Amino acid sequence: MHRRPPPMLTLTVAAALAWGTAVSYAPLARAQAPSGKIKVGFMLPYTGTYAALGTAIENGFRLYVHEQGGRLGGREVEYFKVDDESDPAKAPENASRLVKRDQVDVVVGTVHSGVQMGIVKVVKETNTLLIIPNAGVDEATGPLCGPNIFRSSFSNWQPGYAMGQVVASRGLKRVVTLTWKYAAGEQSVKGFKEAFESRGGKVVKELSLPFPNVEFQAQITEIASLKPDAVFVFFAGGGAVKFVRDWAAAGLKDKIPLFASGFLTDGTLEAQGAAAQGLETTLHYADGLTNARDKAFRLEYAKAYKLQPDVYAVQGYDAAQLLAAGATAVKGDMTRKADVYKAMEAARVDSPRGAFTLSRAHNPVQDFYLRKVDGRENKVGGVAVRALADPARGCRL
Ligand code: PHB
Repeated sequence: MHRRPPPMLTLTVAAALAWGTAVSYAPLARAQAPSGKIKVGFMLPYTGTYAALGTAIENGFRLYVHEQGGRLGGREVEYFKVDDESDPAKAPENASRLVKRDQVDVVVGTVHSGVQMGIVKVVKETNTLLIIPNAGVDEATGPLCGPNIFRSSFSNWQPGYAMGQVVASRGLKRVVTLTWKYAAGEQSVKGFKEAFESRGGKVVKELSLPFPNVEFQAQITEIASLKPDAVFVFFAGGGAVKFVRDWAAAGLKDKIPLFASGFLTDGTLEAQGAAAQGLETTLHYADGLTNARDKAFRLEYAKAYKLQPDVYAVQGYDAAQLLAAGATAVKGDMTRKADVYKAMEAARVDSPRGAFTLSRAHNPVQDFYLRKVDGRENKVGGVAVRALADPARGCRL
């Protein structure tokens, strides 16, 4: 899988770097296209609290490519992989490995908002196509937006904003928030607060703990003593499992209404069991959607992986659909970057979540569902906010 580039190309890049000059990748890329394979670089977490999320994204992506006979735009697809460990400190080096060593045509990554910032930096410097299959970091489709940066998932602002509307509509007034202290949690809370406070609510306390800590006792005790009308949280993956169980074990499940963006209960219900029953969340995917696309996707995913898909699998699948839109338009010649970007920008993605288009900043404009946990499902209860577009503050495109 991880073939080295031919020795001559390695030398060219090394020499250019040594001279401190800007490296132009265009000639290298042209030498390979369009006869070779399309190189897809997965930069995802395969270890740590988000490991299952990374795997689901890769599964979804591969499923779509497999359904196209392993080809996009007439060219075979070849995969390269890096485990980013959800570690922001290693992100620039990991992204450079894919872009410079493996010379991928597109980076598909990642899950963690902090790691995403490192990837964005590298793809901006090299004009490499990036498809973000999860991380919501607002900057990527805000002040750092770019012609080569696309997202098949959501901005952190979006699900938080949707839940702020829901909680306000219930007449709940005083809310405490709790998240991991990094962009995903902080920006979710910001979105929540914007919708909630503009509708008469008040966030009375914002609590946090470092990522990926799972010792929630101090914060749970503080919430119990504050006695708010409701709590809004952001957690995901392994940490979400632990939080939901700890919340129930502390006896708060039937005392203080708990709301969250849907990551709290997506891909986690088997492990959360009884502790999660009845939890309400907002997300751009849900169980029990009735569109034909979702039905077919779920069937094929379950057949291929012996697993039920979740939001992460959908985002991976749709990342591949976005790439397909670009690759098809140029008949696989990924060196025609401007044409690839143009086709991706105009794509209407026939997603299992429901069809979506992209905003000016390349972020999905999509419905946010209100879901309620019932058994092992996040059952759809309706649409909380229809066609919600991230405001893309600071994006000049
Ligand atoms: C993020 O870091 O942006 C992130 C991580 C996990 C999620 C959602 C967002 O489930």
